[in-house]
Amino acid sequence: MKQLSLPANSPLLSKEFTFGVATASFQIEGGADSRLPCIWDKFCATPGKIADNSNGLVACDHYNNWANDIELIDSLGVDAYRLSISWPRVIKADGSLNPVGVKFYTDILDELARRNIKAFVTLYHWDLPQHLEDKGGWLNRNTAFEYANYVDLISQAFAERVYSYATLNEPFCSSYLGYEIGVHAPGKVGREFGRKAAHHLLLGHGLAMQVLAKNSPNALNGIVLNFTPCYPVSQSEADLKATAFADDYINQWYMRPVMEGKYPDIIAQLPAEQRPDIHPGDMEIIAQPLDYLGVNFYTRLHYQASDDDFYDERPHQGPLTDIGWEIYPQALTELLVSLNEKYTLPPIYITENGAAMKDTLANGEVNDLDRISYYQQHLTALHNATLQGVRVDGYFAWSLMDNFEWAEGYLKRFGIVYVDYHTQQRTVKASGLAYSNLITSR
Ligand code: FCB
Repeated sequence: MKQLSLPANSPLLSKEFTFGVATASFQIEGGADSRLPCIWDKFCATPGKIADNSNGLVACDHYNNWANDIELIDSLGVDAYRLSISWPRVIKADGSLNPVGVKFYTDILDELARRNIKAFVTLYHWDLPQHLEDKGGWLNRNTAFEYANYVDLISQAFAERVYSYATLNEPFCSSYLGYEIGVHAPGKVGREFGRKAAHHLLLGHGLAMQVLAKNSPNALNGIVLNFTPCYPVSQSEADLKATAFADDYINQWYMRPVMEGKYPDIIAQLPAEQRPDIHPGDMEIIAQPLDYLGVNFYTRLHYQASDDDFYDERPHQGPLTDIGWEIYPQALTELLVSLNEKYTLPPIYITENGAAMKDTLANGEVNDLDRISYYQQHLTALHNATLQGVRVDGYFAWSLMDNFEWAEGYLKRFGIVYVDYHTQQRTVKASGLAYSNLITSR
């Protein structure tokens, strides 16, 4: 199968539906000497943290290749490009704007506008300035206010150039992976850290939404959350309970405060030192109205009861992508339907979905039929969710091009465009051609 298809009457094929591609600053830009260091620079420089001992100093050298990359995006025929802003590129250590960094992005945004491509701007995709981490990072409540100051300055500088803002990308990853289990920057470990970091991230989100409502009222303003739906290994009461706990801890911990101004009820079960420091008024700030919700979806996980009051996570079982995540598209349908039942949702955009596969470039082609199949199954799953009444307004492929995949370095390729890291040559994969054909045939 070399093409992607959807039923002719699918809402995904209507002209109002937005199809796009996504990237993130640290994963593609390089250009590290023209910005301040961030937590990922330091994490990469720590031996043993990145699978191939690599870093983001050059990455896809998008800092120098951005004009060609936007031409490439345009050639795919997409409606939108989701990019993220590097906070340490646009804000100096004293908290003021760095005009060189700002110009890098306004040039990109102007070029997107010229080509009629909607700009979906993520304001924080994990690259916290290192000097703020040195003062405690997201464990320090003040970081939420530093973040709001950055959002205030940059949203004024961008003026009307941005179609949509996302305050945060996946606060679960920043807080849990970064401060609780330490597999992401800044690499802190301890159950007493995760919820505290999460609370300050969510507070930053709420403050930023207030800023955006003032500075960018015409933009679609929201947040991007990742969901890994939780399934029980058996229907035993203990496994069902552990699975519900895992869902609250991993997924609803971010969703419920944003939508309803409350943490999941399991907060009462956590020992006092593991709870966030909630000040009066915080939850109201966090629950600002959203113009849309960004949902990132890749896989699901299975859970069972454990010896403590938490849960045990079972390793992924096949079929797997090259990063070892189970391919289970039905979970996307079930996730969206269940969110729609639990919450009063704003319009949903799937802001990331895609797969790492073992790609080979041969005779100038990458025949990634496995990735096309992943996209086909997930677009069908998304279509099925719309049949069950979920409003979905857009879909972004992760990723435009192969890039620095965090703790996996350059070993895992998620792009619909292949990147040769020696020559920086880009080659559209078969999946990129199929995605492009689907979009342009509407
Ligand atoms: C998501 C991240 C994105 C990318 C994909 C594979 O968690 O938002 O940057 O790494 O996973």
